[in-house]
Amino acid sequence: LFQQIEEAQPDAIFHLSALWRNDPDSRKVNLGIGAYRDDDGKPWVLPVVRKAETIIYNDPNLNHEYLSITGMPEFREAAARLILGADNPAIGEKRIVAVQTISGTGAVHTAAAFLSRFYRKDVPVLISNPTWINHKLIFKGVGIDIVEYPYWNPHTKGLEIDGMLKALEDAKPGSIVLLHACAHNPTGVDPTQEQWKQIADVCEAKTHFPFFDCAYQGFASGDLDRDAWAVRYFVERGFETLVAQSFSKNFGLYCQRTGCLTVVLNNASVAKKVESQMAIIQRSEISNPPAHGARIVNIVLHDPELYNEWVQNLKTMSSRIQEMRQRLYNKLIELKTPGTWNHIVDQIGMFSFTGLKGKQVQVLKEKYHVYLTDNGRISMAGLSSKNVDYFAKAVDDVVRT
Ligand code: LMR
Repeated sequence: LFQQIEEAQPDAIFHLSALWRNDPDSRKVNLGIGAYRDDDGKPWVLPVVRKAETIIYNDPNLNHEYLSITGMPEFREAAARLILGADNPAIGEKRIVAVQTISGTGAVHTAAAFLSRFYRKDVPVLISNPTWINHKLIFKGVGIDIVEYPYWNPHTKGLEIDGMLKALEDAKPGSIVLLHACAHNPTGVDPTQEQWKQIADVCEAKTHFPFFDCAYQGFASGDLDRDAWAVRYFVERGFETLVAQSFSKNFGLYCQRTGCLTVVLNNASVAKKVESQMAIIQRSEISNPPAHGARIVNIVLHDPELYNEWVQNLKTMSSRIQEMRQRLYNKLIELKTPGTWNHIVDQIGMFSFTGLKGKQVQVLKEKYHVYLTDNGRISMAGLSSKNVDYFAKAVDDVVRT
């Protein structure tokens, strides 16, 4: 049995973490996975998360009963308010459905499974080139065709807006368009508000269906509302949409798998039907979601004082990342490293798309014990005051040779 199976390649991002863990060299640097580290290179439990956990464990009524199939209602409401804005008419008019998911991956998967069953079968999903590795795996898994649209311009090291708009224009009407709500992974390059308007114009003219993946709310501009601008703008313009949310990064709840999928509809009467079908998908796949992370997020989002503390915790993370961008840039300039490096400080979110080529990445790994994905993406959170100069010197060397 199974003789014909070919061994699959390991996941590019998680494999890097394993390589880094097993590397005995004391200079090793992990710039692979997008997970926040403090300036000592350690994972950071947000202080507000610790407070919420104390509340949870001191609750005499705490139990470990199943949640309902679509998850904890108060958490789902709070998650939808966070991304759509508390006063969004779609919420008041009960035109939304929110389902608790296994973090962002689960939200994207549940959305893809839903679309594969209930959306047109004759259109592809349009995905940015490049995108997060898992997007393609997930859509391939549910049998939806994938077509890429240009996103990154290697010459300007910025957004290829003309190519993107043209690809959306040339696509089959009614295509699903996967958009990163903010802090695009892997490039760290987002459309401006003006460019979002152009994207919305094409989507409207072509009756495309926008699907937002929002894994980094709070990490792009440091402002939760500003980071939700694109999603809210599309909703305001009357699009029906799906929004996948992850709380892995902005709450640091990586292993708790805490996320939400929100569907915005034009008609409240459809919401009940959609929710019932989401429940069927969820039941067959995970039965019902885990509680711990959702309890934490729920407590914080419902308590004004804890919410403000969370915003401060987010600022701690995003400003340390910003500082690392500046220090890396300064060092490369000081070393007179060939090339332009403005994009390091211009890009936003957790990642920087350095422009380093596959061969250079290889040398960084083998000679310098620096781990980053082959496409030249670095997780800025892996840099610290202790290793940023070392990394800059390593980049300087590989660029010159
Ligand atoms: C990343 O892109 O590094 C993160 O989103 C982690 C993951 O699941 O790939």
